[in-house]
Amino acid sequence: MSEVTLTINNQKVKAEAGTTILEAARRVEIDIPTLCYHEKLAPRGACRLCTVEISKGQRSRLVTACVYPVEDGLKVETESKRVIKIRKMLLELMLASCPGVKSIQDYATRYGITKTRFDVEPSFCILCGLCVHYCSEVKGKNAIGFVGRGIERRVVFFPDIAAEECPKCGECFSLCPTGVLPSNYALARLPQFTYNNIRL
Ligand code: FES
Repeated sequence: MSEVTLTINNQKVKAEAGTTILEAARRVEIDIPTLCYHEKLAPRGACRLCTVEISKGQRSRLVTACVYPVEDGLKVETESKRVIKIRKMLLELMLASCPGVKSIQDYATRYGITKTRFDVEPSFCILCGLCVHYCSEVKGKNAIGFVGRGIERRVVFFPDIAAEECPKCGECFSLCPTGVLPSNYALARLPQFTYNNIRL
């Protein structure tokens, strides 16, 4: 595997070609916030909290570190003004849709956000898809999935499929960054699950 050299926050970093900026940063203990990243799953750039600013030559732009591959000569800023601005906006949006969720509150506090200007119906789901992709990619099952498009998009258990296919591992719950239950989970008739001390 060939190696590339990039700069992250003015630090020269070597990384294997084909790996991502997030992986390269983590190897040298540079922290980039993530909500939808899981090392066992293909990254999809869903939450965009890992946004960083990259430049090569004169041009700079914002990319998601969990998806964007390392390149030789790439310069990466993980906490530039533009990065912080977009993270703050994303966190405000998430605070509005997921009030009281600890992982989001912790990140919001880190970026000095104490309240949100957005007024949206709370869903407690950031549509990161970790539960869906873990079920299909790691377990090879399709008990959970997305339905709807745009603002109607949501995560649900498919009761009939879940009753047959769900391995009852509980991983989908423990992975969820907001701790939300899929809206029709109770219909999945999997009474052996407990979540947040609630027997389902
Ligand atoms: S962690 Fe990269 S987009 Fe969510």
